[in-house]
Amino acid sequence: MPTALDSPHSVIGQSQSRIDGPQKVSGRATYTSDVNLPGLLHAVPVCSTIASGKLTSLDFAAAEAMPGVHAVLHRGNIGRLYRISGNSMDQGYVDEARPPFEDDVIRYYGQYVALVIADTFEMASAAAAAVKVGYEGATHDVSERLASDAPVHVDSERGDADGGYDSAPVQLDETYITPVETHNPIELHATVAHWDGDSYTFYETTQSISNHQGTLMQMLGLPKEKVRVISRYLGSGFGSKLWMWPHSLLAAAATRHTGRPVKLVLSRKMMFQNVGHRPVTQQRVRLAADANGKLTSLRHDFLNHRAILDNYVEDCGEATPHLYSTPNLRVTSGTVQRNVGSPTAMRGPGAVPGLFAIESAMDELACKLNLDPVELRIRNEPKVDESSGLPFSSRHLVECLRQGADTFGWAQRTPGIGSMKRDGMTLGWGVAACSWPGLRFSAEASVDLRADGTARVACGTQDIGTGTYTVLAQLVASLTGLPLDKIDVSLGDSALPPGPLSGGSAVTASVIPAVFDATRAAMGTVLARAAAVSESPFAGAKADSLAFGSGRVHRQGEVPESGVPFGQILAAAKMHAASGTGRAKGGFDDPLKKQYSIHSHGAHFAEVTWQPEIAQLRVSRMVSVIDGGRILNLQAGRNQIEGAIVMGVGMALFEHTSYDERYGAPVNSNLADYIIASNADTPALDVSFLDYPDTIFNELGARGIAEIGLAGVAAAITNAVYHASGVRVRRLPVSIEDLLGAGQAA
Ligand code: MOS
Repeated sequence: MPTALDSPHSVIGQSQSRIDGPQKVSGRATYTSDVNLPGLLHAVPVCSTIASGKLTSLDFAAAEAMPGVHAVLHRGNIGRLYRISGNSMDQGYVDEARPPFEDDVIRYYGQYVALVIADTFEMASAAAAAVKVGYEGATHDVSERLASDAPVHVDSERGDADGGYDSAPVQLDETYITPVETHNPIELHATVAHWDGDSYTFYETTQSISNHQGTLMQMLGLPKEKVRVISRYLGSGFGSKLWMWPHSLLAAAATRHTGRPVKLVLSRKMMFQNVGHRPVTQQRVRLAADANGKLTSLRHDFLNHRAILDNYVEDCGEATPHLYSTPNLRVTSGTVQRNVGSPTAMRGPGAVPGLFAIESAMDELACKLNLDPVELRIRNEPKVDESSGLPFSSRHLVECLRQGADTFGWAQRTPGIGSMKRDGMTLGWGVAACSWPGLRFSAEASVDLRADGTARVACGTQDIGTGTYTVLAQLVASLTGLPLDKIDVSLGDSALPPGPLSGGSAVTASVIPAVFDATRAAMGTVLARAAAVSESPFAGAKADSLAFGSGRVHRQGEVPESGVPFGQILAAAKMHAASGTGRAKGGFDDPLKKQYSIHSHGAHFAEVTWQPEIAQLRVSRMVSVIDGGRILNLQAGRNQIEGAIVMGVGMALFEHTSYDERYGAPVNSNLADYIIASNADTPALDVSFLDYPDTIFNELGARGIAEIGLAGVAAAITNAVYHASGVRVRRLPVSIEDLLGAGQAA
């Protein structure tokens, strides 16, 4: 069998436009909230206006009497909803485990207390506003200042972290804070649920149809075959759509109650309250080094806020134990309860806020040592993962730093604060390293090679906009030699072979082995038929003397053009299709992790321009070099990193969900007041990839390349801000108040 890379014209590694692009730009792609079914009703939740206390009364008499209203659901009539058993990745996971309306306790602002179902969205909205809710308020706490309310957990430890710190000549002890950030995919969360008296169909905005099905079946108390979940297209998610949230269950209860299909689309305001956020993190970093800049101790103690009932940990120390060489290290974590909806994974969970702290601290240490910050990192490059003693499957961080420095022109940097000028502006140049784990989840796939000369590949994963449709077609094309437009890709339906969640930057690495096995099995069937069927031009040949190339069956050693299109073989065999299936294992407990430390790495270089006289700060230029293994689709891969860097500009300068301490409400819960980086904020971007296939990880050597693009960006920018202005910002985002009065002396 050929390998995917044999052909000089391999579709692997090229820039390939998304095959679903025409569907999207022409408006034919059906997103969840586009789904309309006969008899569809609309549901709008009623949300709590206190952050802590009890629900004492619900008066919905007026709402029920309003035009078009079919029902008002509440604790007394919602029907049974169950809790899931394991809350594990294998058995189904949710971040908010309490089913909606389970009790009358209010634990966060915006918690659902009732649901109105009506003929139209407008009727349901008006009636929801007419529901009168009585509360008994209790004290709430949404403070951003954190102190652990439980013993901290030691996540990683080696050597004598305290001794290595105390005895070092150079020490740094600082605390870094990242605020609540809210995912703002443009597509709002939505569910269209349909109970037909026997089973449910859910159209969902989900990054995991498999997990959504697995949790819904448990919470509704039904066997798997009674719950189908469909998600054909998604307008992104950034992690907020990884796990099921209570509105899916509200929609299920609504269709169960009315016997009609029900659509529930969240408002942007609800997106800030009810479907997760990145929690506040508060991270104390202590670094110690000898006079040459060799680390002697690294201590990273972090806290994050969590909801009252759930226990989400933002693993800020994910990258800390393996990123740099140090004999002494300790990483601890702790959580603090707040009256907020449950936090959840947000693009690069853990590593992204964690690397803001670590990469800021490394810059501060470089300043104390009077050492170039690139050189400091190179001097602390580890040979193995010192937290486990395991070798890295593939690690080229130093080359990322060197190549990035070269492209950026780092050698021209003068270290003095405010010492670099251009066009009357002060320049700041900063650098940060980044890291993200190589993850792969279990996946199954099927491939049909059809007599009409086309192929179909199916996998129960989904495309959140990253290019999953395209990469699956590329994988089949790479083995069969078929052009992409002859390959149909079916995703986004739990009726398909179960596929991975779209998270952890893991889909591509997860599906490669399953799709390759399925494709090879289907090709093997074609070759066997070619040899066996009397009407075949190869009748009587040995199957293993035949080959598959350019979509044709031919004799080995001869060019594909000498053979016949594979569809002719299937026609001769009177078959509709030759089918193959593939299955690959994986997960957070991937056995390969016992042998290798598997991570992508990279380096970001940032330039800011600073005009102290008008207090204007801009990110003007970013150079990023990513070591992500083999890149399968250069265009989609670069898009991932570019998008992440723009998000990093927002993280550094804008994003901050503010809670009003009086009412416990997120107050900037809209896209006018919650600022995300836009085109006008986008710096000149130069993204490149090193090309070191990680073939220990999979046959093609591809690791994940999405989330790593965000890791480290905010630190590169705040390090540049320090270089320009002399102001060290340790609490994101950088505000203009942080900088007022700075830089005048320079
Ligand atoms: Mo990503 S936070 O794993 O969707």
